[in-house]
Amino acid sequence: MIIENKIKNVKKSISYDKRNNKKISLVPTMGSIHKGHIFLIEEAIKKSDVVWVSIFINPSQFDDLNDYKNYPRTLNQDINIIHSLSKNIRIFSPKINEMYSEGVSYEKFDFGKIVKVMEGKHRPNHFNGVATIVTKLFDIFKPDYTFFGQKDFQQVLIIKNIIEKKFKETKLITCKTVREANGLAISSRNRLLDHNDYVNSKIIYEMLVFAKDSFNKLKINEIKEHVSNKINSVPNFELVYLDFRNSNSLEKIISSKENQNLHIFICVKVNGIRLIDNIDAK
Ligand code: PAJ
Repeated sequence: MIIENKIKNVKKSISYDKRNNKKISLVPTMGSIHKGHIFLIEEAIKKSDVVWVSIFINPSQFDDLNDYKNYPRTLNQDINIIHSLSKNIRIFSPKINEMYSEGVSYEKFDFGKIVKVMEGKHRPNHFNGVATIVTKLFDIFKPDYTFFGQKDFQQVLIIKNIIEKKFKETKLITCKTVREANGLAISSRNRLLDHNDYVNSKIIYEMLVFAKDSFNKLKINEIKEHVSNKINSVPNFELVYLDFRNSNSLEKIISSKENQNLHIFICVKVNGIRLIDNIDAK
């Protein structure tokens, strides 16, 4: 079992494997491994000879220092879960100064409109931080394949952009959203929900499916009103947005006549915890 925390050792191992024509996959994570991550890792195992999982809680993508401090840190447990999938998986879990030898900062990327809406609007430099760390990871691993979850749809769009501009050799594999039995998208934040909120959270995915099914039958405003009434009537639940957007540009779709590349996004605050989800409605 290989657990590395030094970039130079990873680079050695990667260049050895590349010389031997091994196909390399990278699954970037911030740890606190759950079934969503596990699905990505299992897809990587199917696709390649060598699978690296990075576990790094990236400070530059947190706008709020408290969020960063409170992010769950469960490295030993994560290592055990990953190794129960396969002993051959390699883990890269660097310390902060290994990834940010010159101090923590983010680069400013120009992703245009896709980072100005929804999660990007709520967390202004979040995607700069994500792009900074993912660029560093891609520079180290030069992976043949990399795996990201559709759950974080805006994140997938910025990764596509980075790959097109700088890492054409890497193939991005976007994986479906893994859900709890009640439909709630799995997320490390779900652990913060109490029992009642968790039980009630099934309404989030139900409303996404409702929005998708009603798109050709009702006006967008009518769908929004229905969803907002339903969600806001659950104790502790507050609808932040239900957006109908183009899946490439994230431009808002305002009429049900424009149904090409439709993607529907939802964000609900449950007792202060922000839960996001999305559905492909093409
Ligand atoms: P993290 O939140 O740990 O997520 C790691 C990967 O798991 C991301 O690609 C995310 O979309 C995916 N994922 C999370 N929940 C999922 C679910 N329910 N089903 C399928 N995939 C899911 O996303 C990050 O970390 C960071 O921003 C990172 C890319 C590692 C950069 O720091």
